[in-house]
Amino acid sequence: MKQIQVIGIGAGDPDQLTLQAVRAIGATDVFFLLDKGEDKAELVALREQMLAEHAHRPHRVVVARDPDRDRTAATPGYAPAVDDWRRRRADVFERLLIDELADGACGAFLVWGDPALYDSTLGTLEEVHARGTVDFDWTVVPGVSSVSSLTARHRTGLNQVGRPVQITTGRRLAEGGLPDGADDVVVMLDARRAFAPLAGQGLHIYWGAYLGTPDEILVSGLLDEPLAAHITRVREEARARKGWIMDTYLLRRPAARDDRS
Ligand SMILES: C[S@@+](CC[C@H](N)C(=O)[O-])C[C@H]1O[C@@H](n2cnc3c(N)ncnc32)[C@H](O)[C@@H]1O
Repeated sequence: MKQIQVIGIGAGDPDQLTLQAVRAIGATDVFFLLDKGEDKAELVALREQMLAEHAHRPHRVVVARDPDRDRTAATPGYAPAVDDWRRRRADVFERLLIDELADGACGAFLVWGDPALYDSTLGTLEEVHARGTVDFDWTVVPGVSSVSSLTARHRTGLNQVGRPVQITTGRRLAEGGLPDGADDVVVMLDARRAFAPLAGQGLHIYWGAYLGTPDEILVSGLLDEPLAAHITRVREEARARKGWIMDTYLLRRPAARDDRS
């Protein structure tokens, strides 16, 4: 039986690596790194730094090309496009486990943030396992998510007292508006500034880019037109400067005082 560890490594700050993650890295024989072919050298460097510091036993690093995903598909085609990408990704994982990991050895995937949040590694491993072509078991080491980083850096909670919170994507927010029943909404994977049309509705925004890294940017306040324009400008400037951006934000609808429990 082969062993796989899915290790959450935090969302950008090397100090967010947990003691459990450090131990898991130290117990790994083969690290599988998926190269997305994007120009994010700093993210690759962060992983390499973690291995240099914590991967003590003799180990190998196997880099595989992460299949490209069709992000241009309009919404009706979105789910099939994701399914197709997942299948091709499962093919890559399957080959890695069969060809690159000996029976009884321990392999690891280093996953950005927390593996449970908008990451397909766990789903892909389940799919490979269901194929029955390779005998393996897997464990998950939770990581500090970008959501935890965001709220910590803004020194705020994720929810208001006794109130619900929802985590969603920029795509869903743009298409469906603010979800009913959630006073606090965290938005990830937003390439389209879905917060902008919500300006002037009494919402507060807590926005963060490159959280945990030396380039971190934080902006917060009442989401009115000038603040939405300010975030848009800061975001565009940062993206032009670095060539990529990762940002997350919390939208808060202050609960009525009588409504709090
Ligand atoms: C594919 S998801 C992965 C999320 C990750 N598993 C986590 O726990 O944070 C990528 C999205 O996470 C958010 N994100 C990840 N790291 C971030 C960071 N350092 N700063 C701001 N947002 C980040 C962004 O919304 C980005 O589009």
